[in-house]
Amino acid sequence: MSDLAALTGRHELATARDTEAFGRNLGERLSAGDLLVLTGPLGAGKTTLTRGLAAGLGVRGPIQSPTFVIARTHPSLVDGPPLVHVDAYRLGSAAELDDLDLDLPGSVVVVEWGRGMVEAIVDEWWELELIRPVGGAPAPDAELDDDAPRVAELTHHHL
Ligand SMILES: Nc1ncnc2c1ncn2[C@@H]1O[C@H](COP(=O)(O)OP(=O)(O)OP(=O)(O)O)[C@@H](O)[C@H]1O
Ligand SMILES: [Mg+2]
Repeated sequence: MSDLAALTGRHELATARDTEAFGRNLGERLSAGDLLVLTGPLGAGKTTLTRGLAAGLGVRGPIQSPTFVIARTHPSLVDGPPLVHVDAYRLGSAAELDDLDLDLPGSVVVVEWGRGMVEAIVDEWWELELIRPVGGAPAPDAELDDDAPRVAELTHHHL
């Protein structure tokens, strides 16, 4: 099990910068063969967190929501493993995730919307759930970009 165990549990992320910094912390601890599922509603901060994670890992950007690309590989700038950033939102089934033939042992893999799917390709993984605290609904005129607190909870799963 990787170095991530130290970060298991809940983390309060008051601003988008905090989410990015937490991602950086995760990225510094991930190694080849690790897979992280990001769970949370639209706009929860999954891609924002992945941006920090990429910086911590030392891979080439930019990190974008892979809207038309299901999996994008970001090569390392520091002689480490690449980051494979997957958006499973549009995948119809776990079998389609398997069909991507990802280099799991040689990469760090982050799967947005991967809950219920990654079981098809790994028997051990990490999951980070991003939650907007109850009662923290934004005002109707609030911009999505406005900083609003999130809670992140990191858990480890194995079959
Ligand atoms: N505490 C916070 N953490 C993360 N993002 C925040 C926070 N507060 C505000 N934001 C804003 O919320 C938005 C999150 O967008 P992001 O693309 O990261 O979400 P996502 O979960 O990847 O969405 P999607 O499901 O569409 O892929 C950004 O505009 C970000 O600036
Ligand atoms: Mg996203």
